[in-house]
Amino acid sequence: MSTFDLLILPGDGIGTEIMTEVDRIITWFNKQGNITFNCEHDLVGGAAYDAHGCAITDAAMEKAQKADAVIFGAVGGPKWDDVPYEARPEAGLLRLRKDLGLFANLRPAICYPALAESSSLKTELVEGLDILIVRELTGGVYFGEPKEITDLGDGQKRAVDTQLYETYEIDRIARVAFDLAGKRGSLVHSAEKRNVMKTGVLWHEVVSKVHQESFSDIKLEHILADNCAMQLVRTPKQFDVIVTDNLFGDILSDVAAMLTGSLGMLPSASLGAADENGKTKAMYEPVHGSAPDIAGQGKANPIAMIASFAMALRYSCNLSAEADMVDKAVANVLDQGLRTADIMQDGKQLITTSEMGTAILNELEDLVA
Ligand code: IPM
Ligand code: MG
Repeated sequence: MSTFDLLILPGDGIGTEIMTEVDRIITWFNKQGNITFNCEHDLVGGAAYDAHGCAITDAAMEKAQKADAVIFGAVGGPKWDDVPYEARPEAGLLRLRKDLGLFANLRPAICYPALAESSSLKTELVEGLDILIVRELTGGVYFGEPKEITDLGDGQKRAVDTQLYETYEIDRIARVAFDLAGKRGSLVHSAEKRNVMKTGVLWHEVVSKVHQESFSDIKLEHILADNCAMQLVRTPKQFDVIVTDNLFGDILSDVAAMLTGSLGMLPSASLGAADENGKTKAMYEPVHGSAPDIAGQGKANPIAMIASFAMALRYSCNLSAEADMVDKAVANVLDQGLRTADIMQDGKQLITTSEMGTAILNELEDLVA
């Protein structure tokens, strides 16, 4: 019997609705009898602010440190627009990433065949698309100091964010990207802005060195981040793995996500370095946000959240057969023509968040029968 400790952080907005569907899948796995997931639930984001006045408590952080994996929904919403910057909902997410050392964010953009037509690009451009964005997640402009707004006293203010990278941070994320590329299409595009940024110059230098020294069997292309954005919507299938910094990764992964038909489809895994026992801290979250405009209406697509849980099965629990099964259940449900609003097409059947969860559970039942 394998046992895993999960910390479930639904967060805000649609986060709670889509996490309910993951809870149901976890309950289903527990009933199967050969795996046990021990789950703790806690608050993050605006929900934590309302209850505790901060975006995540130290107690929740302690649970996150101990868990085999953190399953994270989404945070934020207009309700918390005016809370202090340090306590804004996103601060909870950033603290989890930083304190758990989750420097490698894997964002696969896979176009399910059944959804190729709901992409905003021509079907032939996205059919069969399978890109992996490897985003650096604990450095760069998100965390660089100084980060401040200074009152200049003459009615003017000065805002500073600091884009900062050290060699080791680029080195380790490059290794993750090359390593994963070796298990896929053996092609890495490294995206930066070395034409205007010193961090881009160093990024280029370190990625090239790691490539030369340890991964010369993988094809490496350097690409300027703006060109990468353009190429992603021009001929997305030219890419296999894209490795890039925190900010460019945030933007490019939203672009890549939309190619697949909906932001509601894309999962992500955030991984740390392996400890002396080979264990890696990890958090799994959908790429999309808390979508306050549709929260509480049963309209949210739970697939990105469920696929994020499947990534937890694969990367944190070493349960690849179970992960494959969840992915297959999702693909089958899409093949049957069931759709939440974000991926609705003519002639398909519109269903709610919980109906999507039920359909996926039914598929899981069929797959184990
Ligand atoms: C993401 C999100 C976050 C980010 C926000 C919510 C802080 O956009 O995970 O892509 O910018 O990293
Ligand atoms: Mg983002």
